[in-house]
Amino acid sequence: MKKVITYGTFDLLHYGHILLLQRAKELGDHLTVALSTDEFNAIKGKAVYFPYEKRKMMLEAIKYVDEVIPECCWEQKKEDVNQLGISIFTMGDDWSGKFDELREYCEVIYLPRTPDISTTTIKSELQKSF
Ligand code: CTP
Repeated sequence: MKKVITYGTFDLLHYGHILLLQRAKELGDHLTVALSTDEFNAIKGKAVYFPYEKRKMMLEAIKYVDEVIPECCWEQKKEDVNQLGISIFTMGDDWSGKFDELREYCEVIYLPRTPDISTTTIKSELQKSF
């Protein structure tokens, strides 16, 4: 079985996220999403609307997602890849080149981001309109 992993915050789930997850799943047979915890988002300086458990529940309802695990720090990726038997690590291409050191352990694929949509855009557009 070819196992795929991706990482992210996935706050205010949108179609850019769904398309990323669909394409990630198509790369293999099993997709793990490592979901940034609220504590890790705080470290990254990212303010989330939905807490971890709610973001996890929504991801688990998506047919492309087989498993959700917590992402607690930047350094865990190598360990996740090796412990979970991951063949492919994938992220949107806003991260292009950032995780190339993992090529020692698995294939690394940066997928093109879906244009014109992001959680940040949704938040700022909503703020303007209400
Ligand atoms: N992603 C994507 N296309 C988009 C938005 C996100 O492919 N339009 C991908 C990212 O590249 C990443 C994953 O979805 O691999 C999760 O991204 P995340 O940062 O949680 O979503 P964003 O909408 O980019 O959130 P933010 O605006 O807070 O950065």
